[in-house]
Amino acid sequence: MSNISQTWWKEGIVYQIYPRSFKDTSGNGVGDLKGIISKLDYIKSLGVDIIWLCPIYQSPNDDNGYDISDYQTILPEFGTMADFDELLFQMHERGLKLVMDLVVNHTSDEHRWFQESKKSRDNPYRDYYHWWPAEKGTPPKRFSYFDVDGDAWKYDETTDSYYLHYFSIKQPDLKWENPKVREEIHNMMHFWFKKDVDGFRMDVIPFISKDDTYPELPAEFEGNFIPFYANGPHLHEYLHEINTKVLSHYDVMTVGEAPGVSREDAHLFVDDARKELNMFFHFDLMALDRDGDEVFWMREDKWKLTEFKKIFSDWDEIFKTKGWGSLYLSNHDFPRAVSRWGNDAPEHWRNSATLLQTFLLTMRGTPYFVFGDEIGMTNIRFENISDYRDINTLNRYEHLKQQVIDEVTFIENEKEASRDNARTPMQWNESAQAGFTEATPWIQVNQNHKTGVNVAQQENDPRSVLNYFREIAQLRKTHLGLVYGDYEELLKDSETVYAYTRKWEDEKYLILLNFSTTSTPVDLSFEGMGTPQLLLSNVANKALQTEGSFALEPYQACVYTFN
Ligand code: NOJ
Repeated sequence: MSNISQTWWKEGIVYQIYPRSFKDTSGNGVGDLKGIISKLDYIKSLGVDIIWLCPIYQSPNDDNGYDISDYQTILPEFGTMADFDELLFQMHERGLKLVMDLVVNHTSDEHRWFQESKKSRDNPYRDYYHWWPAEKGTPPKRFSYFDVDGDAWKYDETTDSYYLHYFSIKQPDLKWENPKVREEIHNMMHFWFKKDVDGFRMDVIPFISKDDTYPELPAEFEGNFIPFYANGPHLHEYLHEINTKVLSHYDVMTVGEAPGVSREDAHLFVDDARKELNMFFHFDLMALDRDGDEVFWMREDKWKLTEFKKIFSDWDEIFKTKGWGSLYLSNHDFPRAVSRWGNDAPEHWRNSATLLQTFLLTMRGTPYFVFGDEIGMTNIRFENISDYRDINTLNRYEHLKQQVIDEVTFIENEKEASRDNARTPMQWNESAQAGFTEATPWIQVNQNHKTGVNVAQQENDPRSVLNYFREIAQLRKTHLGLVYGDYEELLKDSETVYAYTRKWEDEKYLILLNFSTTSTPVDLSFEGMGTPQLLLSNVANKALQTEGSFALEPYQACVYTFN
């Protein structure tokens, strides 16, 4: 049995809200805080415990709030600080915790600090950002995710210098090497914790430390710069400092977004004894269907189930005795889970959506769902570039245009890969804009809200994706072995079935997931475990035929215990 300590953020189920797309009450086509407040009873009814709220701060919205111009003001489109206080109060009244987004690798170029910083080379804020004086020549190559030319240095005439921006030109990187910057961030974190928020999801947190001599990028990182960005020289000092100066004063949780962090380095972040973070999101699964280092391009062949399973098994092994994992299949930066890892064809949509829910809710680690997963929302697959809103898609399109774009290939890729797939409005009912807004929504609503993918209709159907989510969430909460139990993978070579056991104290579980479109027999032996008893399945069919022999329907998911 493992010796992992028990705590609320390990037992909690996280529900991520992209506020722009959740519920509009002000009638401007953009979701808002009052909209979230109006849906708290619904959220509570799902059986989730923690809301991760994407950025709601003042922002020019170049990257939908991930470009912050004031960390302590609410974006007026979303509401006021009074609305925020009300939201937090109402959440706590219902026993829900709130995790905010902490975006501190960069600010907006409209942040006061940057406005000052760019004024002159001797401005007191100059050293809040990374600058390269032009008289030294062109700065060493750095890659940008969202720059049309992929160049992370932007020349600024005012002071004849370049500034660094790993993301868009409107997202200059903060200089963490400057102790004043770190102090500002610590104070800002205290501000939110004093309001009683319950934690932070930390945006691209491994990128904050940079070698400010800006050496040439070592050859091995050419075209694969992410691990280089994630291994700055003072990263762990800064994380430890955040922990001792801020986090350790409160009972809160942290989860770092961690592209570029390897399995070998995992414990450096989340070993309790090192006092840094509680959890992080690795990117191994997110890379599985992508074309090598081309993170925004789909690979040509389909991902294999054995590859999928190995990622989860390997990471479980890492956190078996130290640290704690976070489990996710989608978020606002990736396509919808059911379209990507399940099958959103009408005949398989329901069972594959509920299979994926069963998977996340029976694994070890804290499960994260993005709004709409509970009703099986799918990719929208926009046909025209004018439908897209995401800076990532739009700037990559601009880039390709300069190189004689093959538009069809690009759009086909974005239909599966675009971040906008997970950002379309929440589907509340069958009405014109799915009950999200009375106005024109900032991004189109998926038309399948008219054919069953909506909350209102699913509320009334006991077999709906929504009601299954509630059942499986309840099962996890009432069976702590599904949270803490040791995990063991069975049938490792199967390309159709994911099977594993979980064991904790005297609890024992077997989980069978048929990831295929065909009925599949499964033979297992349970020596010494007893007789399997079905706890829950997403399909009425009784999978167990005779002892140790099962027949799983397409996308059937089963959770057994033993007696
Ligand atoms: C990761 C966020 O999740 C994403 O939405 C954003 O564009 C980048 N970081 C930059 O902040």
